[in-house]
Amino acid sequence: MQRIQISDTTWNRLLALRQGDRAIASAEAGYRLYAPIAGAREPFVLAQVGQSLDGRVATPSGDARDVSGRDGLVHLHRCRALVDAVLVGIGTVKADNPRLSVRMVSGPQPVRVVIDSRGLLDGSEGLFHDGGAPVLVFRSAGIAGRPLPAAEVIALKPQDGGLAPADILAALQDRGLGRVLVEGGARTIARFLEARLIDRLHVAISPIIIGSGPAGIRLSPIDQLACAHRPVTEVYDLGSDILFDCRLERDFGALRASGRQGQQVRVANQG
Ligand SMILES: NC(=O)c1ccc[n+]([C@@H]2O[C@H](COP(=O)([O-])OP(=O)(O)OC[C@H]3O[C@@H](n4cnc5c(N)ncnc54)[C@H](OP(=O)(O)O)[C@@H]3O)[C@@H](O)[C@H]2O)c1
Repeated sequence: MQRIQISDTTWNRLLALRQGDRAIASAEAGYRLYAPIAGAREPFVLAQVGQSLDGRVATPSGDARDVSGRDGLVHLHRCRALVDAVLVGIGTVKADNPRLSVRMVSGPQPVRVVIDSRGLLDGSEGLFHDGGAPVLVFRSAGIAGRPLPAAEVIALKPQDGGLAPADILAALQDRGLGRVLVEGGARTIARFLEARLIDRLHVAISPIIIGSGPAGIRLSPIDQLACAHRPVTEVYDLGSDILFDCRLERDFGALRASGRQGQQVRVANQG
């Protein structure tokens, strides 16, 4: 297992690669882990879960703050710094009130994206008031919702009871946001996974046993293990946490087909 320790030189090379520069490769394991994200030419979707040894991301009452160890959190902040946008579902905003910003490493701040198909955000949430990176909110067309301070609301036609991940990614791409980190929660990651729109899945496991509470990924039930995802995986030692870097089979043909058929019906600036 390769230990991840990133020197300032390597991190600066990764940030340069993210900006499109012809960066000099580094022999450090960290370069090998992060270069596919920093060097991705659009579109690229990374999903990340920080979970306990028993696969939980929070207690039943929703306490989720310290599931990941310090190095797991630094890893998450590195991932945020290397993408254009970080995306979460409304459940995560309601449970955690996250800032979705880069604080534990140097680097640019990604645009923040929330899927709130039923218009449940009320504008009091912290990310609308912290003066941070721009916020985009996806709603179902026809849902009025409350005015959201300084946010752009993008309305999409719902399909099969939800918003198609391909339409969401296409709308982000139209805004120059091609590298996307899907940060949770379980239902949001599941929708992108089941749509086969994730390139890489990072599962960071912390040596803590919670014993109950929500799982990091929840997919439709299968009967046979033969139907389980078995991604090609590399394992890294982050320090406090162990990281599984999984390559998934993605289908960006679906993104091109769906996203370019005019699913986006309205864009409104609010604030
Ligand atoms: N440890 C970690 O890595 C991590 C990271 C993030 C979150 N979490 C934890 O995860 C929990 C929240 O996860 P969750 O699964 O309950 O909620 P979630 O995935 O954050 O949000 C789910 C909701 O988002 C909306 N949504 C997501 N994708 C959609 C789509 N394609 N179309 C329409 N609506 C969509 C739906 O809202 P409607 O039902 O209103 O339509 C859905 O119910 C919290 O406990 C949080 O602490 C852990």
